[in-house]
Amino acid sequence: MSDPYGDRGNKDVSIANPKGMGSEIPQRSGQTRPAPGGPFLIGENMTAGYGNGPDILHDCTIAVDQGEIAVIVGPNGAGKSTGMKAVFGMLDMRQGHVKLDGEDITDLSPQARVAKGMGFVPQTSNIFTSMTVEENLEMGAFIRTDDFSDTMAQVYDLFPILKEKRLQAAGELSGGQRQQVAVGRALMTQPKVLMLDEPTAGVSPIVMDELFDRIIEVARTGIPILMVEQNARQALEIADKGYVLVQGANAYTGTGKELLADPEVRKSFLGG
Ligand SMILES: Nc1ncnc2c1ncn2[C@@H]1O[C@H](COP(=O)(O)OP(=O)(O)O)[C@@H](O)[C@H]1O
Ligand SMILES: [Mg+2]
Repeated sequence: MSDPYGDRGNKDVSIANPKGMGSEIPQRSGQTRPAPGGPFLIGENMTAGYGNGPDILHDCTIAVDQGEIAVIVGPNGAGKSTGMKAVFGMLDMRQGHVKLDGEDITDLSPQARVAKGMGFVPQTSNIFTSMTVEENLEMGAFIRTDDFSDTMAQVYDLFPILKEKRLQAAGELSGGQRQQVAVGRALMTQPKVLMLDEPTAGVSPIVMDELFDRIIEVARTGIPILMVEQNARQALEIADKGYVLVQGANAYTGTGKELLADPEVRKSFLGG
């Protein structure tokens, strides 16, 4: 097997989990529990919609395991963002469960999920534009009562341009730089798993490649990543696991390689 990211995982523990891979979890909540064999984070058989509206998700399952990048692709309106929001606790589930490291967290608020170790960068409004870059990162650390200066230094190591621009209003930054602020903000809580909804939306191909490189770097520090991407081909190239969602349901699931090689997936979702 020639997996270019086969060395991803646990060696560099710079950003988040001091033990890496989440197998031993930072003791913020006072206890660790072994993962009972399931994926580290899973939204399982999710059926959900907004308010009293119709079901948007239909028995949809998305998951990411330790050491993985999992990518969700699919047409506009397929329910990718809705799936992410459901996993993060932003809408009521009508059926299904969300489990984090084996624990059922279906009934927890988003805030409580952050405290449990979930980081989420939503598709829109993911930074405070009138605040400086540094203030955005400080806001990201809101749940922390300890000294977070080391984490901020690590975020600046990962995204050097943010250090340069740390006193500028985030709204003055380019699209790619704003996305770095958003990812950096989420990293400030030292998440055990990171969820990204279209982190490369609206950026040039070069900036997209750079962002993907940084995302791979984050994954290598031991933070599994579940992300939605509209750049399906490029995203599946870096994906350990991929999901194609269509009309709120799982249409195709496989490794990134398998999906890239699947004629149906290629024809319908990858432009041939
Ligand atoms: N806040 C909302 N309230 C009601 N319906 C919504 C809301 N957000 C999205 N939807 C609907 O849910 C469906 C899936 O949207 P979304 O999850 O944003 O798709 P994707 O991210 O795959 O483009 C669409 O039909 C959309 O109109
Ligand atoms: Mg979306």
